[in-house]
Amino acid sequence: MKTGLTTQILPAGEAAVADAARCLAAGGLVAFPTETVYGLGADATNPAAIARLYQAKGRPSFNPLIAHVSDLSAGMRIARFDATATALANAFWPGPLTLVLPKTQDCAVADLATAGLDTVAIRVPAHPVARAVLHAFGGPVVAPSANLSGHVSPTTAAHVQSDLAGRIDLIVDGGAVTVGVESTIVGCFDAPMLLRPGGLPRGEIERVLGRALAQMPDDANSDNTQPLAPGMLASHYAPRTKVKLNADRIEAGEALLAFGSDRVPGATASTIVMNLSPRGDLAEAAANLFGYLRELDTKGARAIAVMPVPDHGLGEAINDRLRRAAMGRE
Ligand code: TXA
Ligand code: MG
Repeated sequence: MKTGLTTQILPAGEAAVADAARCLAAGGLVAFPTETVYGLGADATNPAAIARLYQAKGRPSFNPLIAHVSDLSAGMRIARFDATATALANAFWPGPLTLVLPKTQDCAVADLATAGLDTVAIRVPAHPVARAVLHAFGGPVVAPSANLSGHVSPTTAAHVQSDLAGRIDLIVDGGAVTVGVESTIVGCFDAPMLLRPGGLPRGEIERVLGRALAQMPDDANSDNTQPLAPGMLASHYAPRTKVKLNADRIEAGEALLAFGSDRVPGATASTIVMNLSPRGDLAEAAANLFGYLRELDTKGARAIAVMPVPDHGLGEAINDRLRRAAMGRE
């Protein structure tokens, strides 16, 4: 269902940033690059804009959004930072870390964006285009990944266009993103808790904390009305093609998503192969992951067979997204 909007696509630059800020102020929807994935931005204080955003993505409205701000002091106007949150913000912002914190009493972020929770997710992105848009707009911008709900997150402007053309006002094209998986989300509760592995490896956060992050309880998301990290619903990252994990051989008609050496039993000259990182580099694999899943999903393969990816560092986020892709859409 298209909403019949004309979606403008502008190359990143001063004119595009000024247009983006104007469009956000007028209640519009603007996609722009962050270092993790492309985000779909709306004025965080404008409930009508946020309602349009949920509609454009086809996203269940109980799934709350991340408020993007330009620096820690802007963050402190919408959320209460304890010593742990301040230490994490100082260590990793701007960067691929989102903190879930208690709202301040006069938090300007609309209730619709936080889905009625008394916490708010905040992030200061590092990408120069995102920073320029936030600076020009001058207020918090909610931005989920700029994909249709249930699709993999976009890492190029072309991905955004293929999901959202006709549904949003503007796409600022700043080229391919560098990190490629979404931000790591930490809930600053009594014990800081890893809510979503992502572009900042757990080990770096634990080094700053001086202790291990608490793990989300297994049943944290079983109650769909108030889940701890509601976006972590099992069916979130699914391509249409079936995904098979930890493949050590492939069957006829399957495509291969490789990591490291891509010589796998069963592969023939006609096997479609995309290699996340021939040299076995996890950062390179994260940057390629969503684009390669999207591309392999267009090949009409019987399944996408995925070779094992080591689980350390960025591998934790890569394997999390691959597991969700393999669970399929419900
Ligand atoms: O890298 C990223 O984080 C990207 C870029 C655009 O910044 N954004 C992104 O947003 O991935 P989204 O909406 O696709 O994922 C946000 C996640 C969801 O899982 C949501 O449930 C969770 O953050 N979240 C938001 N507010 C929350 C809250 N108050 N408590 C717990 N989880 C929250
Ligand atoms: Mg998303």
